[in-house]
Amino acid sequence: MIAPTVGKTLLITTFIFFSVFLALILFSPSVPFSQTPLSSAVSERAEIWSLRRIFEWRPCNWWIQGRPAALPEKSNGYIRVDCYGGLNQMRRDFCDGVGIARLLNATLVLPKFEAAAYWNESSGFEDVFDVDYFIQQMNGFVQVVKELPAELASKDPVRVDCSKRKGLFDYVENVLPLLLEHHYISFTPAMSQRRDRYPPYAKAALCQACYNALRLTEKLEKKGSELLQAIPKPFLSLHLRFEPDMVAYSQCEYSGLSAASIQAIEAARGDRKPWTGEQARLWRNRGKCPLTPNETAIILQALSIPTNTNIYLAAGDGLMELEGLTSVYANVFTKSTLLSTEDFKTMHGNTKAALDYYVSINSDSYMATYFGNMDKMVAAMRAFKGLYKTLFLSRRGFAVLTSQGLNGSSLMEALWKIHKDDFVMGVGSALPDCFCEFKL
Ligand SMILES: *[C@@H]1O[C@H](CO)[C@@H](O)[C@H](O)[C@H]1NC(C)=O
Ligand SMILES: *[C@@H]1O[C@H](CO)[C@@H](O)[C@H](O)[C@H]1NC(C)=O
Ligand SMILES: *[C@@H]1O[C@H](CO)[C@@H](O)[C@H](O)[C@H]1NC(C)=O
Ligand SMILES: *[C@@H]1O[C@H](CO)[C@@H](O)[C@H](O)[C@H]1NC(C)=O
Repeated sequence: MIAPTVGKTLLITTFIFFSVFLALILFSPSVPFSQTPLSSAVSERAEIWSLRRIFEWRPCNWWIQGRPAALPEKSNGYIRVDCYGGLNQMRRDFCDGVGIARLLNATLVLPKFEAAAYWNESSGFEDVFDVDYFIQQMNGFVQVVKELPAELASKDPVRVDCSKRKGLFDYVENVLPLLLEHHYISFTPAMSQRRDRYPPYAKAALCQACYNALRLTEKLEKKGSELLQAIPKPFLSLHLRFEPDMVAYSQCEYSGLSAASIQAIEAARGDRKPWTGEQARLWRNRGKCPLTPNETAIILQALSIPTNTNIYLAAGDGLMELEGLTSVYANVFTKSTLLSTEDFKTMHGNTKAALDYYVSINSDSYMATYFGNMDKMVAAMRAFKGLYKTLFLSRRGFAVLTSQGLNGSSLMEALWKIHKDDFVMGVGSALPDCFCEFKL
């Protein structure tokens, strides 16, 4: 442990650096700060989780306390949310859609979940999430039905394409007239919506749907808890993303890869060619490149995570260069080592992703090496559950420090500093959509 006085100075320094908006109010900006050297060697330091935090994210009061505004007496029509892609992307879009349905005073029917074609599976919403629980939890927030009324039951919804609309757009202006005309519409929420114009009851419906109404089906929960029980405790759930599709998509260059990895990345490449030379360096320094297992192992050590820590890999089967992690952290577990093979063979992308999600919102700690849909969802759910040991490893920090030529213990020290500040300030541990910052 660092000495109390040193710790105190550090906390104040951190505070001034990373919460200017609050610091300006609470402290005089002229408070001098010192570049406090950390006396102890990396190995003697307690792990990052033992630091005293200054801020944490909790569900905002406007959502979690008290009942939302009364539902409208008359519904403006029925909305189905159409969701595509990976599990967490579908979930994100569905949550948005619930907010929009409430905004439009509409009734929600169960969403369409269409998994990415490469997953080769047909599991819909009701195969992943507990429908009755969802309906019960949304009571008072938005109207949800399992069945359409007889006059609409045989009809397909009129599809409204939100993606083609350019720029910011407003659902009341653009979509409500179509809902009133056709009575039953479907859409995939556009990212460009004007959420800032949402009344609190629409925001509350979104938050309630996303974080307090989606529970895995009983069957998946059972499988998830089996998996959870099989992992030695306590454990860190680590979301590595060093997979061929991700690396190809990121357009990043890596040196030191095995021939097999290079081949897998090339196969996934398509027409997204990697950046080279100076552009590659700038791209990496902007934090665009997924961390390799090697880099992840270096950061974990810099954060004083003991090398005998139990680590669950919340990741797909395609991880590359894993020896870079396992050669330092030997107690690494995966779904495929813990679940019996016949169980595992019958599972597809979405159900496997659901298990990683389940384990990650129940683990002692969670670290993300990327800022993807799963990471955002897991971090927010952990904040919802009061699990604060959540951290996004800094790709940008690692890239910038190493490109400045830092190595060895000076690299470790600088990595510690960056992540310490993030952890103490709660940076990245929840999205500000439904969560509010509380000073501890
Ligand atoms: C929804 O209903 C509320 C009253 O319950 C009303 O204030 C609001 O204007 C309605 N919005 C739409 C889009 O119909
Ligand atoms: C998709 O899954 C089905 C059964 O689950 C299997 O028979 C088929 O071969 C799979 N297709 C591909 C392309 O993997
Ligand atoms: C990981 O580190 C090992 C040992 O230093 C090295 O041989 C290998 O090339 C590195 N792999 C990557 C992807 O950087
Ligand atoms: C760190 O880099 C310097 C040169 O920049 C080099 O001389 C030294 O050997 C490196 N140390 C380690 C531990 O790699």
